[in-house]
Amino acid sequence: MRVLVAAASRHGATSEIGETIAEALREHGLEADAKPPEEVHDLAGYDAVVLGSAVYVGKWLDPARDLVERRADELCTKPVWLFSSGPIGEPLRPSPEDAVDVESLVSATRARGHRLFGGKLDKGRLGFGEKAVVLAFRAPEGDFRDWDEIRSWAAEIAAALAPA
Ligand SMILES: Cc1cc2nc3c(=O)[nH]c(=O)nc-3n(C[C@H](O)[C@H](O)[C@H](O)COP(=O)(O)O)c2cc1C
Repeated sequence: MRVLVAAASRHGATSEIGETIAEALREHGLEADAKPPEEVHDLAGYDAVVLGSAVYVGKWLDPARDLVERRADELCTKPVWLFSSGPIGEPLRPSPEDAVDVESLVSATRARGHRLFGGKLDKGRLGFGEKAVVLAFRAPEGDFRDWDEIRSWAAEIAAALAPA
């Protein structure tokens, strides 16, 4: 059983989530490749797909949305899970209801589920426009990714893919 983990990231935090999911799937006995979505040209070799993106202004990044558009028909024939990463702070903001709208992505891929994880904000890595948005929302800096939560979600996926 080979799983593709494709994660779209602008500043690296979501790529690291994708790599951690792939590593956890391997620990559960599956083969797993972590790749950015723009490098995914063929799904033929994969039995299942985990696709995720960082969230910017309520949306997934283009490479992840493009992969859904390009490959929707094929994705519908495989078990698919989606994840998003974005909210920051304690408590996490935006709230899960406001962070991202993935309804159309879930239905286009017939995903088995969607999980929202906390994100990471390092103001030193942001571009000028991004800094302005962060300032306007008074977003706090820090790493709010919960690695135990991420690993346990990967374990749930591995269990769902395990032969009966
Ligand atoms: C300009 C900007 C806009 C953002 N918009 C959202 C948003 O709408 N919803 C959200 O949950 N997180 C938002 N975030 C937080 C990012 O999704 C978070 O920092 C994420 O971990 C970045 O991942 P990356 O390093 O993979 O790009 C925003 C961050 C920036 C800098």
